[in-house]
This record gives sequence, structure tokens and C-alpha cells, in this order.
Amino acid sequence: MSSWIRTEYCGELRSADLGKKVCLNGWVHRQRNLGGVIFLDLRDRSGLVQVVVNPEQKEIYAIAETLRSEFVIMVKGVVSRRPEGSLNKDLPTGEVEVLADELIILNSAKTPPIYVDDSHERAANVDETVRLKYRYLDLRRPARQKNLILRHRVTKTIRNFLDEKGFIEVETPILMKSTPEGARDYLVPSRVNPGKFYALPQSPQLFKQLLMVGGLEKYFQIAKCFRDEDLRADRQPEFTQIDLEMSFIDQEVIFNLLEEMMVRLFREILGVELERPFPRLEYGEAMERYGSDKPDLRYGMELIDISSEVEDSEFGVFRNVIANQGIVVAITAPGCSAYSRKELDGLSQLAMKYGAKGLAHLALKDGQVKSPIAKFFTPQQLAHITEKVQAQEGDLVLIVADEPTVARTALGALRQEMAARLGLIPEGEYKFLWIVNFPLFEFDQEAGRYVAVHHAFTSPLPEDTPLLEEEPGKVRANAYDLVLNGMELGSGSIRIHLRAVQEEIFRIMGLTEAEAKEKFGFLLEAFEYGTPPHGGIALGLDRLVMILTGAANMREVIAFPKTTSATCLMTGTPSEVDPEQLQEVHIKSVANRKTLL
Ligand code: AMO
Ligand code: AMP
Repeated sequence: MSSWIRTEYCGELRSADLGKKVCLNGWVHRQRNLGGVIFLDLRDRSGLVQVVVNPEQKEIYAIAETLRSEFVIMVKGVVSRRPEGSLNKDLPTGEVEVLADELIILNSAKTPPIYVDDSHERAANVDETVRLKYRYLDLRRPARQKNLILRHRVTKTIRNFLDEKGFIEVETPILMKSTPEGARDYLVPSRVNPGKFYALPQSPQLFKQLLMVGGLEKYFQIAKCFRDEDLRADRQPEFTQIDLEMSFIDQEVIFNLLEEMMVRLFREILGVELERPFPRLEYGEAMERYGSDKPDLRYGMELIDISSEVEDSEFGVFRNVIANQGIVVAITAPGCSAYSRKELDGLSQLAMKYGAKGLAHLALKDGQVKSPIAKFFTPQQLAHITEKVQAQEGDLVLIVADEPTVARTALGALRQEMAARLGLIPEGEYKFLWIVNFPLFEFDQEAGRYVAVHHAFTSPLPEDTPLLEEEPGKVRANAYDLVLNGMELGSGSIRIHLRAVQEEIFRIMGLTEAEAKEKFGFLLEAFEYGTPPHGGIALGLDRLVMILTGAANMREVIAFPKTTSATCLMTGTPSEVDPEQLQEVHIKSVANRKTLL
């Protein structure tokens, strides 16, 4: 047998190849027997081409008759022009076909449990759990491959860019020390050190800082991170960061670098020119105007504080909230005055999910302000409110009264919901912004102590350090987030590089000196040997690729993703292990305790 190895890719054949003798490898996408001639759509990674098997070719015709979808074959033949009338303008190879003269089945296939052919009328209805179980078949779908190919181009562009800028890619350990901050760790028991555990990294944070102590100056890594946390559409238990760190820099250096990187990326991947500099918004202002620390700037509908317009009203709820240092905020949903009771209840429930105690509304219809609470306001007060929120006839004003963070967060969620419902979110627009001046700490009521908003290694703004002792809650951090279209794309900070400051931060977070030494002694010690000022950032690669591909779920841009309950349906992970394996690592499972007792 002569070679069966391909000479050409299916999807690349064009009129320029007419008359060429080619050898193709791939999968049978479709087989059609039109009474005589058999047509095959042959598919490989590059796309499809039509193969024609004529009955005169008795031997291969007999083989072609047995072909089913997803059989793997080799075809040899001559590239020919399709007859007039059978050109296919929708297919890049639509002007040509291959007249087969050799055909070999390399492997057969059972009928696939999912449609590999996206154009099949029932393809869209396949349950995602089936797709995940047969991920290797799902990956054959061109839409999936497109996402993974784009992801590859993103990492390649970023590697090239950072290499040009003098960054060195360094791998950091996957088996590391468990640290108490952030999400829950994935733990790995040690066989040779009984009773001791490694943790999988939530990020390479401490190692990248130690690389700065180690004099590397500019580090990056496309780093796998692991977090045992509640999962959502934009969160996976293992995900990838574009992680970087630099010495002898300030925030401006990081912002410039990242903006240049995003401009390059969007130009090369999407052909989109981004405007620079990216706007910056203080954390406080973002919360006030958008009720979010990752606002989507592709639409308006900003939050408006109407506390002073309602404080003298007869409505007890609003007056009480204001008397207790709360606020009353509103957004205007254009053209929604006819919302039904049921629709309004739905919005109320959304607001309550974010902690609001209720949702009030004013509907501007028939030249009047209609609302269950209208009776508590004078016509003049109502006029002041609608003027402040710039509501017009036909609009709906949504109002939440609460403690400031709750009121804003709840209304921020409604702002997002209403923009989506009203189709106010433009496709193909990319609105980047930096959020700066986050608080350094927030008070965790449950734990009864301060916790770091970013992480414990973030430096306070120099002008706020005098407040550390007395009012830690008021100290702002030298930290920043990169936000794109309402998604937190990345997060970073200028770090602490002085031992005394780091110890002070640990103390405020409630770590005793002994605990700090036990958990972070190596870092504190390193700070005593000439640590340069340094800082960095990490971008969520999966999130970035989601936005670049327009994917609605992170699973669409990861080859082998996990479900929202952190399982892999294809391999059945996590799974039970042999009792001997547990014994070897000195572990006794209590998961089945009930049955044991
Ligand atoms: P942070 O925890 O904010 O910062 O993470 C940085 C970015 O990683 C992405 N990300 C995730 N993506 C998918 N699934 C998840 N579960 C998930 N969690 C986070 C987000 C986020 O913005 N070491 C610091 C960075 C630094 O200070 O340099 C860190 O990890 O896009
Ligand atoms: P109530 O007095 O609880 O019957 O509430 C009257 C109206 O005010 C209802 O439409 C409630 O949803 C709304 N409401 C109650 N509490 C709040 C709040 N904290 N913010 C906004 N609206 C509220």
C-alpha cells in the first residue's frame, strides 16, 4: 500500500488546486447516497471538502456505501471543479470537489451520542451533561475548536509580547504550603511526611514575590490556579492566570504595560483598535455610580442618590433608613412603566438576593406617577424625584433604601438585569477600565476581624499608612483591578516589601506573631535580605478568552472543564480511591461514617 498520510488539509482546497492529485485524512462528516453517486463531506481540523465516489469505481464504491458519520478514512483523488449549479458559496471549499480513486477506512465509529455536525437541526438541543461526558466528541465541533485555537493564539501573543518586554517565564511549584487567606485550598496529603499536607496554589502570589527577592526583576507565567470555592459561569475550580510581577516599578508602569498588551491582543486577535489610556475610576465612585466594583461601561443607567429628595416624605421606610445612616438610591428603566405585578415581583426578588429588604417603584404613565408608595409623597416631592432621576413618561423608577453598600449593590444588580432585558448592551464593544484605591481591609463580621480585600501582601497607600493603627477600615490599598465589560479581568497591587509593614498587616488581620511566623516566616525572613520594591497583576486567561470569543460560559473555552459541582463528567472525577491508597497517605475518610458506625 502506498502512503496513506495526508498531502493536503480538506478545508484548504481551492480552485487553484484544480487537477491536483491529493491524499486526504479525516472524519466522515456526512455521507449521502443520491442514487448512484455517493457524496462524502470529509472533515479535518481545517474544515470540510466534498468527496465524490462514482459507481464505476466498484471497489471503493462498496466501501463508501458502508461509511457512517465519524468513520475515519483516507481518500485519494483529483481536485475537480464542481459542476455548474452545485457550487456552494457558504463553504470555503465550495467551488471544488475531490473525485475519489482510492479510499481506506482507518477506523470505524459507533453512532455518536451527540451531534458533531452543528448544522443538524437537533444539535442545539443536546443536553450539556451529555456533551461533557463525551467531551472528546464535543471537541470535534468546529465551534469548540475555534475557541481553543483562539485561546492558543492569545497565549502565544502574550508570550511574545512579554518576552519582547524582557519578562522571563518561570514555573512555580504546584505542591505548596497551605495559607489561610482567600478561597479554600485543595489539599494533597504527603505519604512520606505523615499527617502533613501540601496545598495546590490558589495563585503563585508568594513565589512570584520571592522571585523578585531572587533578583529576576520581570517574571511571568501562564499559571494554573486551584480554588475550592462556589462555582459560577465565570469561575472554575482550576483556571489559568496570566501572572506577572516586576521590581522597581509603580502602578503607572503596570498600567502602561497592561494597556499596551491589551491593545496588541485585541488588534491581533479581533482586529479591534482599543483607545488608550483606559479610564480609571476610584472604587468608591464605581460603587456610587454603578453599584459595582466591576461596572459595565457599555451602557448608562447610573445609580442616583435620592436621599435628600425623600428624607422629608411620609414614607417611614425611607425616613428610617436615612436616619440610620442609610441611603435611598434609584435607577430609571426607560419604557418599562407597563411592567406587571409579576415582573415587578421578579425584580424585587433579585434585589433581595443581594440583601435589599424591598424594592419600591414609580411608574410614569398617563401623565401620572403610579406607585403603591405614591400616597406617602406630595406631588412636589414626586416631581423632585422624577426630575433628579430624569424619568420621562413611560419610564419605571426602581428604588432601594438600605445601608449604602447593600442599597448600591442590589441596585447595581438591577441595573445590569434591566440593561440586558432592554437590549442596551451593545455587541462588539470593549470597555476597559481600571478600578483603583480599593479599601485595604474589610471587617468580617462572622470572623470578628479585619480581612484583606485583595490579599495580605498588598501595600497601603503611603498617605493612608498613619491610619493603620487607629482606623484600619479607612486605609486604602495600592491595589487595582482591570475590568472589561462588567467582568473583573485581572487584579493586582504594589506589594509590601518591608518586614515591619508586613508584620503590622498580619497583626491587624488577627494573626499572632507566632502564627505569622509559622505561616509566612519564610517571607518575613526574605524581606530582611534586600527585597526590592515590587508589584504585579494576574489576569484571568479563561475570562479573557470568554470575552474574545463571546462565550457565555467559561466551559466553552476550556478543553476539559468541570461542572458547577467541580466534577469531570468524562472521567468521573473526583472518585473514590482504594483503602490502601488512603492508608499509604495516612488518611481515614469519614465520608461514609454513617455506614461505618
Ligand atoms: P485574584 O484572586 O484577583 O488575584 O485573581 C486574578 C484573576 O484571576 C481570575 N480568577 C478566576 N478565573 C476563573 N475561575 C476562578 N475561580 C477565578 N478566580 C480568579 C480573575 C481574577 O481577576 N495573586 C493575585 C494577583 C496579584 O495580586 O498579582 C490573584 O490571584 O480574572
Ligand atoms: P411595606 O411598607 O413593607 O409594605 O413596603 C411598601 C413598599 O415599599 C413595597 O413596595 C416594598 O417593596 C417597598 N420597600 C420596603 N422596604 C424597602 C426598602 N428597604 N427599599 C425600597 N423599597 C422598600
